[in-house]
Amino acid sequence: MTELACFSRYLLQLCYFFTVLGAVVSSVVGCSNKPFRSPVYLGGKMIDAEVLNTGHSVFRRFCAGCHGIDGKADTDAARSSVPSPRDLTLGIYKFVSVPAPSLPTDNDLTRIVRRGLQGTAMPAFTGLTDNEVNAVVQYIKTLSNRWRTNEAGVAVPHYPDPFPPEQRDVAIARGEELYHGVARCWPCHPAYLSPAERAVLHEQYGKSTLYTDGYELPVTLNGGRPTSDRTKFLQMLPPDFLSDTFRAGKRDEDIYRSIAAGIGGTQMYPVYDKFSADDLWALTHYVSYLAHLADTPKAEAIRRHSEFRR
Ligand code: HEC
Ligand code: HEC
Repeated sequence: MTELACFSRYLLQLCYFFTVLGAVVSSVVGCSNKPFRSPVYLGGKMIDAEVLNTGHSVFRRFCAGCHGIDGKADTDAARSSVPSPRDLTLGIYKFVSVPAPSLPTDNDLTRIVRRGLQGTAMPAFTGLTDNEVNAVVQYIKTLSNRWRTNEAGVAVPHYPDPFPPEQRDVAIARGEELYHGVARCWPCHPAYLSPAERAVLHEQYGKSTLYTDGYELPVTLNGGRPTSDRTKFLQMLPPDFLSDTFRAGKRDEDIYRSIAAGIGGTQMYPVYDKFSADDLWALTHYVSYLAHLADTPKAEAIRRHSEFRR
């Protein structure tokens, strides 16, 4: 009996020894909850260690389950979700107000964390405080080297909507013409006019080279080849506005941002510098009109009328 008591006391001491040793080792090598000891230069500004330490713990708690502890998103759960959680080490972003490959603004990252991405696993974090959101936004920049060597980009101009409500129909008609004529949003996205109507616009505008002038694809995934395959990485099929989810949301300002700044890492180029404010907004109203018809009989009628097949 005494031998047993002695043995268990020995075990307890051993336990205690390892607990103390563990604490000493982790504080020496810094694998505690505070990995940052000094400020870090990210996206053109110095970020305090304290902010990054808070961001680190928010990230581990709320984001690492999907994006991975190192941001690489190569967990089993990540691999089975489509689209998969972004590999945050790439430093490439889709639904932001700067044209790729520029780095997004803090407003962009804050909006994405707060609102999430519709139709994907990325949740809206409405319960975090402003401090926590800002901290995690700064922290995710430490996961990609691009933030150490580049400054954050400048948002494309967000012109005020020039169309009052009573001119919305005019805007939609103009947008429809731009979409199928000069802007050539199709055949990436579906066409919504009949082949005969498209032929008339083709005659009028010819083969537009708007998208191929002076623009290089920003990412080198898939060996640098653009693809419209529905893969698990950055390249997703261009949505059909009559049925697909808008990741960034269906508000006019969201649609405008996607059109003007493009979708980073995909084939969709920014066009903010190719169209006037009126035309950018005409396109926005047209896409928004289609989006709000989604899954109605009218949407079905448009689809039949267009005879468009991917
Ligand atoms: C349940 C899984 C999940 C969790 C949790 C999650 N994300 Fe995501 N996240 C995703 C998915 C999926 C995408 C990619 C969506 C896409 O490509 O359309 C994504 C994309 C992103 C993007 C890229 C947005 C863009 O415009 O390209 C950022 C930044 C991001 N997440 C940050 C975070 C942060 C910060 C947290 C924690 C506060 C977090 N995520 C938590 C699944 C998740
Ligand atoms: C070269 C092909 C291509 C062209 C041209 C193109 N897009 Fe896209 N577009 C895409 C791809 C790919 C996506 C989807 C990205 C994703 O979800 O990963 C997309 C997504 C979008 C989105 C959805 C954003 C969201 O919230 O999910 C909108 C809106 C959009 N495009 C509008 C347009 C308009 C309007 C035009 C013409 C001015 C256009 N696109 C031209 C390829 C293209």
